[in-house]
Amino acid sequence: MDEFKKNLKKYQEIINKEMLKYINKDDVPEKKLNEAMEYSLMAGGKRLRPTLVLATYELFKDDYENCMPYAIALELIHNFSLIHDDLPEVDNDDFRHGKPTNHKQYGHATALLAGDGLLNQAYLIISEDLAQKQEAEDIGNRIKVFNEFSIAISKMINGEYLDTELEGCEITEELLKYIHVNKTGALISLAVRMGAIIGGASEIQIKKLTNYSEKIGLAFQIKDDILSVEGNEKITGKPVGNDKEKGKCTYVSKYGLDNSKQILDETVNEAITNLSEFGEKADFLKQLALYIKNRNK
Ligand code: IPE
Ligand code: IPE
Ligand code: MG
Ligand code: MG
Repeated sequence: MDEFKKNLKKYQEIINKEMLKYINKDDVPEKKLNEAMEYSLMAGGKRLRPTLVLATYELFKDDYENCMPYAIALELIHNFSLIHDDLPEVDNDDFRHGKPTNHKQYGHATALLAGDGLLNQAYLIISEDLAQKQEAEDIGNRIKVFNEFSIAISKMINGEYLDTELEGCEITEELLKYIHVNKTGALISLAVRMGAIIGGASEIQIKKLTNYSEKIGLAFQIKDDILSVEGNEKITGKPVGNDKEKGKCTYVSKYGLDNSKQILDETVNEAITNLSEFGEKADFLKQLALYIKNRNK
């Protein structure tokens, strides 16, 4: 295994172990709801967003535990977004991570509430961090991150709304980019900014990392569009051909497959140029941008 893969696995393992702490196995009347939340959280996600939080933080400091609540909260939000994204009223998908989607496994009402539960639990994790660290020197940065967290979630919801409402419509290039930047880019960009801000990065460093994050956020969704055309369901674990079936506006429907790959390539290269001032320390983030481009799941 190459160095990048090893490091990615290390982050994934740290995150998975930490996530287990937030799984409620108590024998309570609402046990099934907690199970539904666990089902999606532990289904085999790549953990890209929390990995970005930790890896960006580590450009500045060593004690990554310091930003762990924010990394976990973001992964909870991501999973909430996936559960609702798969619902019949939204994308109507039956498979994710090679398993039945949450509503297929637990029913629609439970899936809806499992999403709500994850959303609220994410806020709870951050509010507890803030409550505990009221006297901390960096409390200002934490509050700033909390505010950005809420804004990014709104953007994700706005993007999901447009993506759903505009199915089957011809839209402009600008609007397509707007949807992608909001529905997917916002949470990915947030991940990097949270790591940088809690890590104590300077304004200039935050600016560079923000540019990087916005590019990889867009690139991530362009690749998702490409995988919806030429991915292998056995590897992606989710349906292929579903975007086209639903008349979704995607980079592939707008620009074609080859041009989308070209745009993806350029976007990832632009992302990487923003890392130069961080030197070798940013090698993992550089590899991660390339992984976003080359991934097959
Ligand atoms: C899938 O995100 C949904 C999009 C925003 C495109 P990921 O591909 O990061 O999902 P998991 O968590 O790894 O399954
Ligand atoms: C998902 O976008 C974005 C969010 C869940 C916020 P897609 O609908 O394109 O992602 P997949 O292909 O279902 O994972
Ligand atoms: Mg969708
Ligand atoms: Mg979807």
